[in-house]
Amino acid sequence: MPSTVIVGGFYGDEGKGKIVSYLAMKDNPTVAVRGGVGPNAGHTIEHENKKYKVRMLPSAFLNPGTRLLIGPGVVVSPEVLLKEIEEFGTHDRSFVDFQCGIIEDSHRTTDSGGRLKQSIGSTGTGTGPANADRAMRTLKLARDVESLTLYLDDIPNQVNFALDRKENVIVEGTQGTFLSLWHGTYPYVTSKDVTASAICADVGIGPKSVDEVLVVFKSFVTRVGEGPLKNEIAPEKAVAKGWQEVGTVTGRQRRAAEFDFDLAKRSIMLNSATQLGITKLDVVFPECAHMQSFSDLSSPAKYFIKNIEDQLKVPVTLIGTGPDVNDIIDRR
Ligand code: GTP
Ligand code: IMP
Ligand code: MG
Repeated sequence: MPSTVIVGGFYGDEGKGKIVSYLAMKDNPTVAVRGGVGPNAGHTIEHENKKYKVRMLPSAFLNPGTRLLIGPGVVVSPEVLLKEIEEFGTHDRSFVDFQCGIIEDSHRTTDSGGRLKQSIGSTGTGTGPANADRAMRTLKLARDVESLTLYLDDIPNQVNFALDRKENVIVEGTQGTFLSLWHGTYPYVTSKDVTASAICADVGIGPKSVDEVLVVFKSFVTRVGEGPLKNEIAPEKAVAKGWQEVGTVTGRQRRAAEFDFDLAKRSIMLNSATQLGITKLDVVFPECAHMQSFSDLSSPAKYFIKNIEDQLKVPVTLIGTGPDVNDIIDRR
C-alpha cells in the first residue's frame, strides 16, 4: 500500500487527524504530505493522555521517522507553522514547498469581519482572501519569506521520489467533500476543491500514483458555520445524545445530524473511495468505547457498520472507538 490519500467525506472534522496519526504510527510512512486549504483546518489528536492541536503540519508528526511536507496548493501562515514546528520539535523533518501561498495580516482582516465571516461563517484565518489573491496572481509565495528559508523544498519532487522507491506515503486532505468549492453547498463552502483529486494536485501527484483513497466519515454528520444540513437536530437534542462538539480552530459549536447515506454515496463517487474510515462509533454506541477488535463490538454497533458496507459497497477498514490514536479497530 505505497500511497494512501485520506479525505473527509462530509463537512470536515470527521477525525482525519486521528486516523492519519494512527496510520503514521502503524504503517511507518517515510512521507506524510498535506494538501487542502490551509490553517482553517484544525485536527485534534490525543495520545498517551496528551492532546495536540495541529493546523499546518501533517497529523503524522507523532512518528519521528516520518517527513512532514506541505504541498504547493496549500496556503501557509508562517506564524502558525513555525509555532507548530517549535512545539512538536520537528525542525529537521518539516518542509514547505517554494510555491506555497502566504497568508498575511490583510487576509485575516478581510476574513474575520464583513461578508465572509457573517454570511459564510468562515474561520477568519485568511485562507479565502489569500486564495483570491492567488487567483489574481498577487499573492506572496513561501520562496519570498525569510523565516521559512530553512524549510523550503520542492515537495512534488520529494513525494514522487518516495513513490518511485515504493516507500509508504500518506497524503492528508483537510476539510470535507461538501465544503468543496466545486462540489459542496455553494456558497457555504471553503475556498478550494477538497476532494481526493484536488488533494493530489495540491501536493503534485497524478491520478495514476494513487493506490488507496480512504474516505473518512463520522458516525453522525457535523457542520460548523453556515449552510444547509439535512435533518439537523436541535442543539439540546445533540447534547442529550452526547453529539455536541466544539470546533478546533474557532471554538464554535458544531451542528449535528444523523449519518446521511445519500451524502455518503455521493462522497464515495466524487472521491473514488477504495476504503472507508468511520470515527466516533463510541459516541453513538458508548458500550464500544476503546475497543480494538470488531468481534468485541455490540450487535447494534456491528449492524451499524455492516449496514454502511451493504449500502455503500465499500469496505469499512478503520473504525474509531475513542479519541486516543490507539482507540481504533483496524480491519485492513
Ligand atoms: P479538519 O481537517 O478540520 O476537517 O479536522 P479533522 O477531520 O482532523 O477532525 P477534528 O480533529 O477537527 O475533529 C474530530 C474530533 O473527534 C477530535 O476532537 C478528535 O479527538 C475526536 N475523535 C476522532 N476520532 C474519534 C473517535 O473515534 N471517538 C471519539 N470519541 N472521538 C474521536
Ligand atoms: P473558510 O474555509 O475559513 O473560508 O470557511 C468556509 C466554511 O468552511 C465555513 O463554514 C467554515 O466553518 C468551514 N470550514 C473551513 N475549514 C473547516 C474545517 O477544517 N473543518 C470544518 N469546517 C471548516
Ligand atoms: Mg477540524
